[in-house]
Amino acid sequence: MALFGSRPRIAIIGAGIIGLSAAYELAVRRGARVSIFDTRPPGRGASWAAAGMLAPAFEAADEPGQHPRLFELCLRGAEIWPDFAKDLSARTGVDIGLSLAACLAAALDDSEAVRLSRIASRLAAAHIGHSALTRAEILRREPALSPDVISGLELPSDLRVNNRQVVHALISALRAHPKVKFVTGPAPLRSVGGRFCLEGHDVVLAAAGWETSIIKVEEQGQLFSLVNWETALDDIDCYGGQMLSVADGAGAPKRVVRSGHLYLVPRDGRVVIGATVEPDRVMDEPEEEAIEALRLEAVRLCPGLADAPVLERWAGVRPGTPDQAPFIGETTTPGLFVAAGHFRNGILLAPITARIIADLILGKDAGELAGAFSVRRAYAATA
Ligand code: GLY
Repeated sequence: MALFGSRPRIAIIGAGIIGLSAAYELAVRRGARVSIFDTRPPGRGASWAAAGMLAPAFEAADEPGQHPRLFELCLRGAEIWPDFAKDLSARTGVDIGLSLAACLAAALDDSEAVRLSRIASRLAAAHIGHSALTRAEILRREPALSPDVISGLELPSDLRVNNRQVVHALISALRAHPKVKFVTGPAPLRSVGGRFCLEGHDVVLAAAGWETSIIKVEEQGQLFSLVNWETALDDIDCYGGQMLSVADGAGAPKRVVRSGHLYLVPRDGRVVIGATVEPDRVMDEPEEEAIEALRLEAVRLCPGLADAPVLERWAGVRPGTPDQAPFIGETTTPGLFVAAGHFRNGILLAPITARIIADLILGKDAGELAGAFSVRRAYAATA
């Protein structure tokens, strides 16, 4: 049943990859009317900073403290990416660089080797294809790796896209669409006589990542945080990430390789190296010391990068919830939905989040798994 009429007018607050993908699903694929509000240019936050890995196995198969069904959501997310990519490229002509080459995970010490074994066990239990690799096998697959590597995993479930191209394609599809309007500035949210509203719209989707909690609502001439209407938004915290890229060269890896929090992603003639995870860091500026530490870690994994010139340094901010999984669904305020808090999996989960949120807003069945990511779990955790 469509709760907001068969043609709801939808306001999306936040033009990052989550807001843009939701707008794409709602307007371009399902014909709804959408306005997208952001104070900054679209797609320039975490979506631009990311490396574009779609990594359900490495990011979600064995992470302590995670939502118990995040792995399942990430697998579903990866499964629908090829269709999403095909559709987006067909509509826009933009090559978004989806690579189906399996990613490699390498262990340089015993504790990482143990972690890789745990990931392998979880994948085996879920019947997800993977290969445990000996030192010789992983070095054969990626000769740029250090001879100090002790073991590895090949993960066909873990793919990658060029996230900057994805964002570019989404923006061009949306800008060309007659039912989509981009608004630069804050959304004029109001509360009138206890009713939450945004003039000209039936539904509001808060998709502003870590900034969701600083969205303002006007009531009797005063501005209040949206958190007053949905307290769970206060649970979304900031996790800064710093990254760099170096020039491609003879010693550079040809495949995506990962080890612990470190990843090396060959892209556009350079190698993207990420990333720090820094709670409460909201600065857009990278710091020399952190970047150099990351570069040295990359050199430890791939020694041939030692003299590769640094081309670019940058920083982004991930939005994270206490269980590292997104809030997706309607809030306690009628007509207010949320899709935010995707932490390390924003690119991977954009298409599945868009599909779920479109189903929920348009009154379709979003499936049983979707219900597990509702904001309601925030109250269960504090009850
Ligand atoms: N997806 C990897 C990161 O957030 O650093």
